Amino acid sequence: MPGYVINGRKTLTGRVKISGAKNSALKIMAAAILADGLVTLRNVPDIEDVNTMVEVLRTLNVRLDFDKNNNILEIDPSMINSYEAPYELVRKMRASVLVAGPLLTKFGKVKVAIPGGCNIGARQIDIHLKGFEELGAKNYIEHGYINCSADIKKIKTSGKANLKGAIINLDFPSRGATENLMMAAVMAEGHTVINNAACEKEIVDLANFLSTLGAEIEGGGTDSIKITGVSKLGSGSTDYTIMPDSIEAGTFIAAAALCGKKVEVQDAVWNNIEIFCQKIKEIGIDISPAGGRTVVVSRPKKVLKPVNISTLPYPGFPTDLQPVIAVLLSVVPGLSIITENVFENRFMYVEELNRMGANIKIDGHHAVINGVKMLSGAPVKAFDLRAGAAMVLAGLVAEGTTEVYDIQHIQRGYENFHSKLRVLGADISVV
Ligand code: UD1
Repeated sequence: MPGYVINGRKTLTGRVKISGAKNSALKIMAAAILADGLVTLRNVPDIEDVNTMVEVLRTLNVRLDFDKNNNILEIDPSMINSYEAPYELVRKMRASVLVAGPLLTKFGKVKVAIPGGCNIGARQIDIHLKGFEELGAKNYIEHGYINCSADIKKIKTSGKANLKGAIINLDFPSRGATENLMMAAVMAEGHTVINNAACEKEIVDLANFLSTLGAEIEGGGTDSIKITGVSKLGSGSTDYTIMPDSIEAGTFIAAAALCGKKVEVQDAVWNNIEIFCQKIKEIGIDISPAGGRTVVVSRPKKVLKPVNISTLPYPGFPTDLQPVIAVLLSVVPGLSIITENVFENRFMYVEELNRMGANIKIDGHHAVINGVKMLSGAPVKAFDLRAGAAMVLAGLVAEGTTEVYDIQHIQRGYENFHSKLRVLGADISVV
């Protein structure tokens, strides 16, 4: 297994360009199933999760051609002939369940392996399934798979549609459920309203893509999404560019806050991670937007201030940036408290950080951080994608050498992570 070796305390400076958003690309790839014609996606990050979604779509007999040098992915779904997402791929990547919505509406049935829990929590899909039922599907579980099929007797659509529009009130603004239901509803007969919907910018990106295919969809990015079903999508060729990755942007901003001198983070959209940038500012870091899509960050000489943070669905503080800001707060003098409200198991990295000299105590879903002067390099483990990135950031600011193991988790979601850090001046290599 590869790992990173980092010699810490190098000053980061210069420019880094953020890649396309993982959490947008994966959903838009799944949505491409709905098209009749060719879909060309640009700014698709060359990361492991995208490769897994390519495999998922290939098992459905979708043709794909990924030009990794130019980040262009061509998807031809015209020969699709399967409605099953197998266990070995869903196990690898939970977001594989996002093919359920488009397959259900296209074929009237879908069979998807139950994803199960993961390192950050139990992660149910009950809200997705409840929504499918509202749209007229029935679900049953057998041999570790969820089988959903349109309940023809119940929905009695007048045309060819497999599902029927409905008012769906989500119990929680789950991103995955919002996306799955949007993709299912765009070809359902009549009107659908998704209330208490997730509002993340990636939802807007998915709505924009579906509109480009010809879907009738309003309110993406608000808590009430209104959809009128259509019978055909994407008949001609469709060309779409994926939005930049806000979490990657936040990770580089946090790296610059730890050890940066005028780092320009390009394709970082301030408005997409405003609350994160505001917290970084509150800590005392010099951070400002420079034009629409660049954020400039420097660590000042003055003493930094502790802050309290609570993660929440958008526009709240993003749970995915919780581990990286924890690393920053671990070396800010004073007491900071982080409250994790989205996932129940997102402090696994704390033990590793404490092994590097941090002073963090976990109390239920709170992390109580007593800032220390310095972290010291140690061998550590990447528990999951964002926790792994946090370990790398800890290595950048620590004295001495840090070895980060299990970096396959990091490679799932960051394109050329170590190369981008090296360009900024970090001493990091893969072994
Ligand atoms: C997405 C992101 C992930 C991010 C998370 C929260 C992708 C591929 N991943 O994950 O990076 O951390 O949003 O912003 O886009 N829940 C249920 N039942 C459900 C669905 C969700 O109980 O049917 C719970 C989950 O267990 C979790 C919370 O709701 O505690 C949030 O989950 P959700 O918003 O669905 O996250 P994902 O879409 O899985």
